[in-house]
Amino acid sequence: MQKQIVLLTGASSGIGKAIALRLGRSNIYFPILVSRNPDQLSAVTQQLEHGDYFPCDITDSTQVEALVNYVISHYGQIHVLINNAGYGKFGGALQTPISDYRGMMETNYLGTVQLTQAVLPWMLQQGSGKIINIASVAALTGTPNLAAYCASKFALLGFSEALQLEFSPQIQVGVLCPGPVQTPFFREEDPAALFPPFILRHSLDVDRVARHAIQLMKRPRVKVIPAGISWMLLLKRWLPSLFFYFNKKMYDRFLKKEQSKTSSSHAMTK
Ligand SMILES: NC(=O)c1ccc[n+]([C@@H]2O[C@H](COP(=O)([O-])OP(=O)(O)OC[C@H]3O[C@@H](n4cnc5c(N)ncnc54)[C@H](OP(=O)(O)O)[C@@H]3O)[C@@H](O)[C@H]2O)c1
Repeated sequence: MQKQIVLLTGASSGIGKAIALRLGRSNIYFPILVSRNPDQLSAVTQQLEHGDYFPCDITDSTQVEALVNYVISHYGQIHVLINNAGYGKFGGALQTPISDYRGMMETNYLGTVQLTQAVLPWMLQQGSGKIINIASVAALTGTPNLAAYCASKFALLGFSEALQLEFSPQIQVGVLCPGPVQTPFFREEDPAALFPPFILRHSLDVDRVARHAIQLMKRPRVKVIPAGISWMLLLKRWLPSLFFYFNKKMYDRFLKKEQSKTSSSHAMTK
């Protein structure tokens, strides 16, 4: 059986790498790994039984065009596009510089749109295709210290829903919205200083997220993981004022505690 060609962005690290490792062992899929760093991509590809890679910055239209030309000329088709590349920078809505708001929009939203626009005509020509966008719980609810990131992921969710309405049934669009996942995404930030214990308790293992992403390829839809956070978001849908009240209380209490920890550690170093 001919394997399905999966174009996967953000494949050099974290969630994308975990998805690549699973696809690269599967009998059904043939992954093509994408990110900006060729050395990391090559190292991940060497761990696969089958797969290929192509370095590309998804915010650069010339590189995106070269990527799609490469895939089509070598493999003829793209069955699945997984838009996973993205990053987050943390900080208050007021303190976050406008360049960071722009940067996250450029990568998380517009970069994804740009690659999708390059791939979609080929999928339509084939008569079918699947697009899986890795969004976040931050695409569904605002989060303190993540305003810029949330905005970019809300945009991605809106784009995904519109795509599904415009192009289904030929094109199926799925959106995975995970809560916090243990990956290099957080860099020097401590997740325990960003999220209240309730959210942190629901942190996900990267391999579990990869499993969900691959399941979503079989039946694309909007999926929130883990279940605990998915239930919490049902409250937002059905009783938004009550959800906002409890969410505000939870974050106010948490941020106050974090602030007093920071002030006492400052006092000790004086
Ligand atoms: N970790 C979490 O808590 C969490 C939760 C929910 C959703 N997510 C989302 O999941 C996705 C993957 O995140 P992760 O946690 O796996 O983070 P990660 O380990 O930092 O991986 C991010 C990946 O994106 C690639 N990338 C970044 N900018 C790019 C660009 N302009 N062009 C091409 N590739 C680019 C990076 O590779 P290069 O630097 O080599 O380009 C890397 O492979 C992101 O969209 C993130 O928003 C993460």
